[in-house]
Amino acid sequence: MIYLKTPEEIELVKRACELVSRTMGEVARNVAPGVSTRHLDNIAREFMRDNGGIPACLGYGGFPATLCIEVNETVVHGFPSGYELRDGDIVGVDTVVTLDGYNGDMCYTFPVGDVAEDVMKLLRTTKESLYVGIEAAQPGRRTGDIGNAIQTYVEKRGYSVVREFCGHGIGKSMHEDPEIANYGRRGMGPVLKPGMCICIEPMINLGSKNIVIGADGWTTRTKDRKPSAHYEHTLAITTEGNEVLTTFDYIREALGDRFI
Ligand code: MF3
Ligand code: CO
Repeated sequence: MIYLKTPEEIELVKRACELVSRTMGEVARNVAPGVSTRHLDNIAREFMRDNGGIPACLGYGGFPATLCIEVNETVVHGFPSGYELRDGDIVGVDTVVTLDGYNGDMCYTFPVGDVAEDVMKLLRTTKESLYVGIEAAQPGRRTGDIGNAIQTYVEKRGYSVVREFCGHGIGKSMHEDPEIANYGRRGMGPVLKPGMCICIEPMINLGSKNIVIGADGWTTRTKDRKPSAHYEHTLAITTEGNEVLTTFDYIREALGDRFI
């Protein structure tokens, strides 16, 4: 069931998105070699709560933390831990906040210190593919148009698309219909309509598309242990096009010249 939102509800989703975006700015300020991923989790949880938000991942289906942490070959849903980030790592940070009953969801993959050029290229291409997907998210078009645009963009550059996880609708729940796959065929899937709020979140691998879910039931890694990147925005479909409700501006502010 796809819930179309009223302008008032979209405003509430936008406020949750503003908070999750500011939270990611706080995280960005703290990403550095030697910092534990648990420290990043503590910062995010406290910042959300200090600003009236609820960390939505914490306890969701048993997920144990505020942030999903994706170091190097981790694709999605990793746990924060005592692991201290190292020079040359990449770390994806994916999180959701609930504010006044509505959710905002975003993800950003950060380079830590000096990262190999081929991995930096994976990050840039994955981020670009998010914007290619957003461009395809026009009213009257279909979810498959988004997936096809992302898949075409990244495969042309030699990367592969994770199939088992996708984007989604969002609102009062963090996951609503429709599913927004990062691959697919044009003209397939539900029609995008004004009032829909969706999350687009390409998960793109340097090597093969295959993944393995760990014994904890969550931590998902690439089968070949090569790096994977993940970026996500929440957006609203409007009559004219779409409005991106989350922003990477706070991350840009925090990182300065290190922003990619
Ligand atoms: N953006 C992630 C998703 O849509 C957030 C997951 S939160 C978790 O799957 F609790 F499920 F981990
Ligand atoms: Co999401």
